[in-house]
Amino acid sequence: MPPIRVVVTKPEYVKAEAVFQAAPDMDVRVSDWPEEAVAATVREHGAFAAILGVERYSGALYEALPKGGILARFGVGHDGVDKPRATARGLLVANTPGVLEDAVAEHAIALILGVAKNLNAFALSMRAGQWAPRLGFELRGRTLGIVGCGGIGRRLARFAGAFGMTVLGADPAAADPAALQRDWGFAEIHADYRAILGRVDILSLHVPANEHTRHLVNADLLAALRPTAVLVNTARGPVVDEAAVYDALTSGRLGFAALDVFETEPYVPAAPGKDLRTLPNVLLTPHVSSSSVEACQRMAHASLDNVRRAHSGTYGAVSLLNPDVLAVLGQR
Ligand code: GLV
Repeated sequence: MPPIRVVVTKPEYVKAEAVFQAAPDMDVRVSDWPEEAVAATVREHGAFAAILGVERYSGALYEALPKGGILARFGVGHDGVDKPRATARGLLVANTPGVLEDAVAEHAIALILGVAKNLNAFALSMRAGQWAPRLGFELRGRTLGIVGCGGIGRRLARFAGAFGMTVLGADPAAADPAALQRDWGFAEIHADYRAILGRVDILSLHVPANEHTRHLVNADLLAALRPTAVLVNTARGPVVDEAAVYDALTSGRLGFAALDVFETEPYVPAAPGKDLRTLPNVLLTPHVSSSSVEACQRMAHASLDNVRRAHSGTYGAVSLLNPDVLAVLGQR
């Protein structure tokens, strides 16, 4: 069997180079961004598959891959891939659920602890030669609100439980709230996130970016939180109205924001004069919550598996995000 020709975007390749190099059944070519360059590399290489990061693909790539080919996300979030467009072109779209939950939940805990223990302020003041102690707070007895109780939200609930936090979950799609309470340590599960807002010390977001979640965290939601509350976002930037968060942080209506994801990445302030990086009550990381060595290796393996299964027509085993494509491919 000739190797399967695959194009991998450079940042993803670099995150798990050894895995990509060690795939004997793959002929891997690395591509720079932007989308036109990825599409050109796909064409040159005659690629069947493109393994992609979080960037937005809205044009040339869909025309470059062959019918039956695959857009394979290296990761879970798929807001950057246009599923209807892929379906119309007969392209599969897949992601890698189940391999990065621990990495992201650990990062959320790291952000929460970073805020609780003033790590950002101490790192800066020590570096500046100052000795500037101040009080932190403990997690035990605090209430954590988790919006989105899927794989990552559940892991976070369990970790938070180990710190002695009370965890309130909100998820309109939670099929079995009793199981979430029994198996993952949620104290309560609500269909409507508004039920938990006024009761939490920390609110952590674990929902995808889509038309229902865009600016879910807006001025109204922020007004319903306690003024000392900490907002944590390791989900997707567009879920949060960053200008509203800036206003809340600077007017004493929000205590702290710990953000790993942004409306524009690399970060650009959402409005002139509202640069979150200038504020003392923020802790910011550059969209790295799933970027542990281990999770990246698992994402590489899982995305390559999706490619293999698509190539062999074993569609039922692909983590497929656009099942309608099977009808286009004459499989249903
Ligand atoms: C990371 O942000 C992912 O969607 O996997």
